[in-house]
This record gives sequence, structure tokens and C-alpha cells, in this order.
Amino acid sequence: MAAGLWVALSALRVLLLLLCVEPWTEGGKVLVVPMEGSHWLSMRKAVQELHARGHQAVVLAPEVNVQVKGDDFFTLKTYAIPYTQEEFEDFFLRHNHLVFQTEHFLKTFFKTITISQNVVAFYQRSCASLLYNKDLIRYLNDSSFDVVLTDPFNLCGAVLAKYLSVPAVYFLRSVPCDLDFEGAQCPNPSSYIPRLFTKNSDHMTFLQRVKNVLYPLALQYFCSISFTPFASLASELFQREVSVVDIFSYGSVWLFRRDFVMDYPRPIMPNMVFIGGINCANRKPLSQ
Ligand SMILES: *[C@@H]1O[C@H](CO)[C@@H](O)[C@H](O)[C@H]1NC(C)=O
Repeated sequence: MAAGLWVALSALRVLLLLLCVEPWTEGGKVLVVPMEGSHWLSMRKAVQELHARGHQAVVLAPEVNVQVKGDDFFTLKTYAIPYTQEEFEDFFLRHNHLVFQTEHFLKTFFKTITISQNVVAFYQRSCASLLYNKDLIRYLNDSSFDVVLTDPFNLCGAVLAKYLSVPAVYFLRSVPCDLDFEGAQCPNPSSYIPRLFTKNSDHMTFLQRVKNVLYPLALQYFCSISFTPFASLASELFQREVSVVDIFSYGSVWLFRRDFVMDYPRPIMPNMVFIGGINCANRKPLSQ
């Protein structure tokens, strides 16, 4: 009898112990590879929520950056890049005036292309500094992360996730050139989905549909200079041909910061989740 009671008490003690430990064992390890600037501001909110739910987050950023600063709800891990803070800020702030210029469309277009090439070269070099940093890669690999949360606007995080063989969750508003559709093999009918800059709606006349087919062609060049450098980087790293679409298709889950209240309807895949509203998490009340 006494022995039976003892066994029951022991079982109860183990059960209580398990109940106490349970919330901790559920917490995952998340490697966060953000995109610089405003992109980080909404991702930061998601990282804060992950922390509140018992997950551990390590945020990876170049030691020279503008927005990604340390905080108490994540561990900031930085890596060296071949730029100084002055060069970095000068580089990003120098071109801001372009937004307000009223030059000829073509002149602005060519200027934008040149700037994009410089910006992409900057990100590509920074990414190479990360991927070829042996100590850092060893640390990241040994940390056995459960998931990489990254903004595919800068494909570096996606390439890193693939390199570490850790599933990637993409966190984004949108990507140009329908690379999200291609990456996730999502249906994408031109006759119903209004394309970027066309000002079309989801109800189009025949001519609007023609415009809807032609506009993306012009953007192709822009996307090819913006994303191909990452495909080259990945091909070099993995010692085989890797395309831009290959990198996008590595994403396991797509979290879109959008909503059909504001955006036109579009087909989505089962691994695409709409989380519109997170951009407004830090709203300020309007003044009287
Ligand atoms: C990570 O570690 C595993 C096991 O030691 C190893 O096989 C793999 O090559 C490492 N990956 C990278 C990217 O270093």
C-alpha cells in the first residue's frame, strides 16, 4: 500500500515537473535575417511577439547599419562588412532627393538603374562577407536554429538558410516581377491580376489586359540586375547552377504583410499567409 502511494507520488512529481518544463521545451530558436530600413520596423514587431511567446531570436545584421540596433527581446549578432558607417549612410541618403526630382521619365529611369546597381553591389558584397565568414557560419551552424525568418527583398537570408539547411519563412510586403508566384509555383493569370504600375483593377478591358502583359516585360531588366547577383553568389557557394527562382522557392512559408481589404484578390498557395495590419502596429493617434 505504502509502496503504491510512493509510486503515485513520484509519478505526480514527474508530471508536475514536466508541466513546469513544457513551456520552455516548446520555444523554438529563430534566426532572423532582416532587410535594412523600414522593412525591419515591422519585422521587429514580429520578433518581439516571438519573444513574448517563449521563442529565442538571434538577429543577424552587418555591424554597419542604420535601423537594426540591439534590444532586450533578441540577441544581436553582427558581422564585419567592407564599409564604414559614413560610407554606408552617405550611400543610402545621397539618393533620397531623386524621389522629389521632376526630370524626364527616361532620365530618372536610367538614374534609378545606376543607383540600383550600386545598391545591389553593396548588398552582394555584404552578403559575401557573411557567407564566407567561417567563424560566424560555424557558430550559426552549431546553434541548430529551427527556422530562419527573413525578408526576401534582400535574398541573403534565403541563401544563408539554404546553406545552413534550415527552413526559411519569408516575411514581406511584396516582391517585384512576380517572383513570389514563380517561387511558390502559384497560378498567376495576367488577365485577372493587375500588374505593378499599370493602375489596372481586377476587371480589365481587352486593351488593359494587353497593357497588363506588356508592363512586366519592362520590369524584367530591373529585377534581373537586382536579384541575379545573389544567384551568382549562391551558385559559387553551392558549386552548382542556382537561379533566382530556386532561391525564392526555398521558402517554406510566406508571410505577406498585406490584406484583401486593401489589395486586389490574387491566387495564393497553402503556404502563403496574409498578415496585413502589422505595419500599423505602432500607429500614432491622429492629432485633433
Ligand atoms: C554544418 O554542420 C554539419 C555537421 O557538422 C556539416 O555536415 C555541415 O557541412 C555544416 N554546414 C555548414 C554550412 O558549414
